[in-house]
Amino acid sequence: MDERNRGRLTKDGIRIYEEADFAGMRAAGKLAAEILDGVAPLVQPGTTTETLDDWITKAVEDAGAVSATIGYKGYKHASCISVNHVVCHGIPAGKVLKDGDILNIDVTVIVDGWFGDTSRMYVAGKLSRKTERLIQITHDALFKGIEAVKPGNTFGDIGNAIQSYVEAERMSVVRDFCGHGLGRVFHAPPNVLHYGRAGSGPVLEEGMFFTIEPMVNLGRPETKVLADDWTAVTRDKSLSAQFEHSVGVTATGCEIFTLSPAGKFHPTWD
Ligand code: MF3
Ligand code: CO
Ligand code: CO
Repeated sequence: MDERNRGRLTKDGIRIYEEADFAGMRAAGKLAAEILDGVAPLVQPGTTTETLDDWITKAVEDAGAVSATIGYKGYKHASCISVNHVVCHGIPAGKVLKDGDILNIDVTVIVDGWFGDTSRMYVAGKLSRKTERLIQITHDALFKGIEAVKPGNTFGDIGNAIQSYVEAERMSVVRDFCGHGLGRVFHAPPNVLHYGRAGSGPVLEEGMFFTIEPMVNLGRPETKVLADDWTAVTRDKSLSAQFEHSVGVTATGCEIFTLSPAGKFHPTWD
């Protein structure tokens, strides 16, 4: 059997994994989170995003794992690093970080065939008040979404929890990118929207594995993709933040596979 076809599919084409499969996701998620912990001290004014990506590439190799992004649709790096008004899919490069720059680092690893996908926000140097609030609201929005994950709720409940929280804070939720099912593959059904109506969308079932990865802008939600075909930026050049966890639906709620072993999943960790 092709191992990627394990379990069964719902009528919406969402794979239902078995209890034993949670162990595979736990290992992959843990490594991805450890890498995000480990890179944190390197995020400083004066360094480049390429330097950060080189460290990540080596950390994946040293762990005996495989990067899910190197070679994915022609992408060449072990991480996406999205600085300031870059919403997502920023390509690591030689540009030097300056004091006050905020960045999302997104890492996906494959461990024994299981995918662990997670991202968080970092700051080079000092965080301004306004920017700290953007990051805090984005982080808390992800957890509002995670709190809505339990059997019987719908994917629309997740999106609605995120959107209503963010918009009450007068920030906006990006519509152009979404979370996704994952497991033995990187991107699978469903599209996990970070906005929507309560009660809409497929019903959550125990054994579903997916990411929640809201992108929140200080200004308007519209994005555009640059000529490199990857880098997505805010059209109004306002700052953008994102956090991502990989989760599995349990009988009573969910397990977060990508929690930081060091408890660092937050911009103000030190
Ligand atoms: N990790 C991203 C996600 O959250 C996908 C990156 S694909 C890449 O789904 F090719 F840009 F790396
Ligand atoms: Co993802
Ligand atoms: Co990701």
